[in-house]
Amino acid sequence: MKKFPNGFLWGGAVAANQYEGGWNEDGKGISVADVSYFVDPTKIKTKADIYKYLKIDDARIEEAIQTQDTVYYPKRHGVDGYHHYKEDIKLFAEMGFKVLRISIAWSRIFPRGDEKEPNEKGLQFYQNVIDECIQQGIEPLITMSHYEMPLALAREYNGWLDRRLIDYFLNFVKVITKRLCKVKYWLTFNEVDSILRHPFITGGLIESRFTEEELEKACYQAMHHQLVASALATKITHENIPGSMVGCMLTKVTCYPYTCHPNDVLEVHKKMRDVYCYGDIQVFGEYPAYLLSKLKSKDITIQMESEDLHILKDYTVDFVSFSYYSSGCVSNNKNVGEMTSGNTVEEMKNPYLQTSQWGWQIDPIGLRISLNELYGRYHKPLFIVENGLGAKDELINHQVDDSYRIHYLSEHCKAMYDAIYEDGIDLMGYTSWGCIDIISAGTNQVSKRYGYIYVDIDDFGNGTYKRYKKKSFDWYRKVIETNGSSLFD
Ligand code: BG6
Repeated sequence: MKKFPNGFLWGGAVAANQYEGGWNEDGKGISVADVSYFVDPTKIKTKADIYKYLKIDDARIEEAIQTQDTVYYPKRHGVDGYHHYKEDIKLFAEMGFKVLRISIAWSRIFPRGDEKEPNEKGLQFYQNVIDECIQQGIEPLITMSHYEMPLALAREYNGWLDRRLIDYFLNFVKVITKRLCKVKYWLTFNEVDSILRHPFITGGLIESRFTEEELEKACYQAMHHQLVASALATKITHENIPGSMVGCMLTKVTCYPYTCHPNDVLEVHKKMRDVYCYGDIQVFGEYPAYLLSKLKSKDITIQMESEDLHILKDYTVDFVSFSYYSSGCVSNNKNVGEMTSGNTVEEMKNPYLQTSQWGWQIDPIGLRISLNELYGRYHKPLFIVENGLGAKDELINHQVDDSYRIHYLSEHCKAMYDAIYEDGIDLMGYTSWGCIDIISAGTNQVSKRYGYIYVDIDDFGNGTYKRYKKKSFDWYRKVIETNGSSLFD
């Protein structure tokens, strides 16, 4: 009978800023996510409109701070996980989750980010969540920072561009790893490679303060600070929690050459380096030669302290985690192919693949290829910490028939199975994304749903917030119960 390896960690994932809500409760400070504006689909005619809505500047931030509105700032209400977490964890346990990936809102613990003493109520909240998980037999996997830095650090320090953030972040890490010392699995930064794609949400860089050239330089400097902080966070976690495992977290898109022209193949290599350079530093502990050459050619010099390179070398990660949703084609001729949307990455259309309602190309074999690429490069255990299908679900008579999601997830799980048994990949686990419906990171909508559990709210936050099991709920329960063998029935 086909089964996944014993101890395989099946589960689901959410992030505090998209799930919790409770944005101003119990001493929480405002975060970069709380000023993220809702992209009202009725006002979007072109892609350019989306960027217009998502573009952030000081005036937009000031406007956001002045209002208590939650409709146009939906991450402020999330799906009210702050008050529903017990009920939700029970449902996850009913599905048999072995692991639940959550993140800690830094601004719940340090409201501005630069305080010396933590907010006890924030710490108590996460202590309660962890205790609940453990009581239900679920192992927590914590992302220390998932697109939710305290806003004051962005406004007053220019985010990770300022070296002082390393100390502020490490203070936060010391506090959470001491308090939440029962947690074995940790990730430092979500999609650490995303700073050039969204400088504000990832790095706290307010884009309008920089020229295009300055912004690129600032992103690389901020990247360096984040990577030093990540290495030291790994050290602290190992010291505070003996036996803990710390991973990096990358955005993995499988890229294919648009044609077999060698230039297109070379373009794929170059493209992948934008992600690999972060993994290479976190796994091998060194700046790779291709990144140093790139920085030199752009005349970018990263300011470093003398000990930085030793820190990177000494405190590397234990495993490599990543998100995978789709694949795309790449060419060195930008005008040959039609573009398709993706997880903050736009690629060319692949005629062999179907797309989701949001234009993301669906490609389970691409997941197997990504697993091979990452394992071949890093030789470290891998963990898929995000994967799933964002779709419009309909609640009819308290039921949701999401057979399309079951199909997507089944095919991806089978690809994982093949990667484990045919390719010899060491895969620790799988936490599908948004195991309960949450607010989308990209567009701030709730109608782009990923969950096994439907939450009754609409894009404007109207609804009862009641939870309903979708058809995929029972499907996943069975997958976990049989350790994957039901995938092959
Ligand atoms: C990943 C992020 O990039 O993609 C998540 O880590 C995000 O936070 C997920 O939610 C899916 O993207 P979206 O825009 O559909 O929510």
